[in-house]
Amino acid sequence: MYGDLDRPPLRQTALARALAADGWHVEVVEEVSSTNAVVADRARAGEPAGLVVVAEQQTAGRGRLDRSWVSPPRAGLTFSALLRPTLAPARWGWLPLLAGVAVARTLRDRADLDAVLKWPNDVLVDGRKVCGVLTEVADATAVVVGIGLNVTTRADELPHDQATSVGAAGGATTDRDTLLRAVLRQLTAVLAEDDPAASYRGLCSTIGQPVRLDLPAGRSVTGTADTVDDDGRLVVDGVAYAAGDVVHLRPTGG
Ligand code: BTN
Repeated sequence: MYGDLDRPPLRQTALARALAADGWHVEVVEEVSSTNAVVADRARAGEPAGLVVVAEQQTAGRGRLDRSWVSPPRAGLTFSALLRPTLAPARWGWLPLLAGVAVARTLRDRADLDAVLKWPNDVLVDGRKVCGVLTEVADATAVVVGIGLNVTTRADELPHDQATSVGAAGGATTDRDTLLRAVLRQLTAVLAEDDPAASYRGLCSTIGQPVRLDLPAGRSVTGTADTVDDDGRLVVDGVAYAAGDVVHLRPTGG
């Protein structure tokens, strides 16, 4: 399997050239604390939409619900994109969910993996997490979409046994340039759809499942996940929840 020396660097020049036509301005950096933090600072300094900072390594990667995101150098894709959405801010809650759609579609199309979503935006393969998304609002007009995708990460490098990587799951490609280009193109496409919520629901394996939802305040609810409503909230037994950690109580294929 892979060691650090076998992991090729990203090809900044080719990536930047290929994605410029889609409005993405890609910068590859060797090491930063957190690409979300870097892009949020740049957003507040007036950077236009389309900036993408990709780090070969993060020293303080951030996860949802105050967790961290850890990935060995060049083993994954850790990047953040700056959006200045034309959507009303009330709809910005959909952005992380749609980033999950972009990654799941990429893994299905390019890596031939049966990738699905666990609400709100974890991407799962064989029931294990391969990708997480953290969206942060930088200011009144800017949203940072941060994506962490495990690509060649070995089982002994993954943070827990419920995590996987594209390579560990048997993906047809582990070429990070290919995957990054595809994710950003899929993100552009899903953000332009008339009914992106329908695309999300079509890939969301949580819907219809018996679940436990661990709420941020420490409480949990158990029930059936009915749907994801028009505000992106998970509806469990008729009650909508905006945030939390889902546990699927029945193992799912995806
Ligand atoms: C999660 O908890 O599942 C979300 C993880 C998001 C990690 C990515 S890696 C790139 C970007 N920069 C960060 O600090 N976090 C996100």
